[in-house]
Amino acid sequence: MPWTIERKHDHVVVVTMNTNKVNAQNPAFFADLHAAFDRLETEFDDCAVVLTGTGKVFSAGLDLDHHFAMFARRNLREINDWFAAYRATNLRLFTYPRPTVAAINGHAYAGGFITAIVSDYRIAMEGALQFALNEVPIGIPMPAVYCEIIKYAIGTLAASEFTLFGQVYDLETASRMGVVQKTVASDQLLNAAVAWAAHVTPDCYPAYSFSKRALQAATMAAIDAAARLDRDHAGEVFVRIRELLKHRTPEHATLGINEAIRDVLALTGSALRSRSVVIQTTLAADLPLVSGDRVQLQQVIMNLAMNGADAMSSVTDRPRLLRVGSKVNDEGSIEVRIADSGTGIDEAIRHRIFDPLFTTKPAGMGMGLSMCRRIIEAHGGQLRASPCTPHGTEFRFTIPGSNKPPMPA
Ligand SMILES: Nc1ncnc2c1ncn2[C@@H]1O[C@H](COP(=O)(O)OP(=O)(O)OP(=O)(O)O)[C@@H](O)[C@H]1O
Ligand SMILES: [Mg+2]
Repeated sequence: MPWTIERKHDHVVVVTMNTNKVNAQNPAFFADLHAAFDRLETEFDDCAVVLTGTGKVFSAGLDLDHHFAMFARRNLREINDWFAAYRATNLRLFTYPRPTVAAINGHAYAGGFITAIVSDYRIAMEGALQFALNEVPIGIPMPAVYCEIIKYAIGTLAASEFTLFGQVYDLETASRMGVVQKTVASDQLLNAAVAWAAHVTPDCYPAYSFSKRALQAATMAAIDAAARLDRDHAGEVFVRIRELLKHRTPEHATLGINEAIRDVLALTGSALRSRSVVIQTTLAADLPLVSGDRVQLQQVIMNLAMNGADAMSSVTDRPRLLRVGSKVNDEGSIEVRIADSGTGIDEAIRHRIFDPLFTTKPAGMGMGLSMCRRIIEAHGGQLRASPCTPHGTEFRFTIPGSNKPPMPA
């Protein structure tokens, strides 16, 4: 449902977030937010803004179901795009040129806390409200962009306590730490917020927006300077969410590697074909089963296949061939080979490709191979790369066979 925007005063509008019951932040929430701000900029550019929620929660932060599912899809471009959009959304609120007041009607957690803290002024209603930045305790680093914004809003000392220790604070403590500047009875919340926002009259908006820009200039410069940190952040979040998913399903089952390969190729086949990649499989029949985590092993196969496709994207003078094979090797381990006919790996960087964050791709994170190697080693196997002749690269991993009877290929 689009957010309601009501004019409550000659030059103050109240924007009520109502995408879902707790304003969990997902694509629908962000779409509603941008739609509301598009309207504010065009229809209500003579107004200050009061932002509030409904029910017991101001905003519960990122919608974890949605975001976990997205991270699990392992589409790195999707994750990068998501982070860029998430960052831009909060910066849009932070730099909105007119007065912005958060009327905090309930708990503000994590991303919801950020949505409150980007406002110029924050008023909360009395009650058992809770405030928390719980990212660090669950192992997710706080993006540099938000660290800078939180520092701007409440000072470095309070920002570091809130961010690093991830405690849940009651209203009184949050007020003392500057998160909330004023507290009023619940039935006075909107009136008080509107009255505060109305302190600035439209004739003063140019001065207001200039001064706001000046106040935020150092923070904005710091945010720009920390862009590289935030790039690494996406990788960190990614690894962490993967770990969380791993811990959710610590599933060591007995499985057939050929089946895992076929599943991945079924999933990625159309994406690969659209990039003119021809897949050739040579899967040995009657392979012994392996003991492992199906999702992790599929991620390894998918990463290697995607890297192969990337390496062939500039090839035009020969087939873009991805050869995928499985067999039992001389030591009795199961061996999977994924070979491409791509551009190969320069001698100069060959020793770095398994390093975390090493990438030669503009949109790459450089996490794929380091994660693949970690997964394979955790399964008691090895992952190696070697050049193919005349073109391309072969990645080969081994997994010890389990002692179960073989499964038909
Ligand atoms: N099949 C391949 N052929 C040529 N170069 C490769 C191949 N696989 C990996 N590389 C090189 O190794 C680097 C690291 O690969 P890795 O999968 O770790 O990260 P990435 O693909 O760059 O980014 P991402 O985190 O999105 O996977 C790549 O940037 C590329 O330079
Ligand atoms: Mg990769």
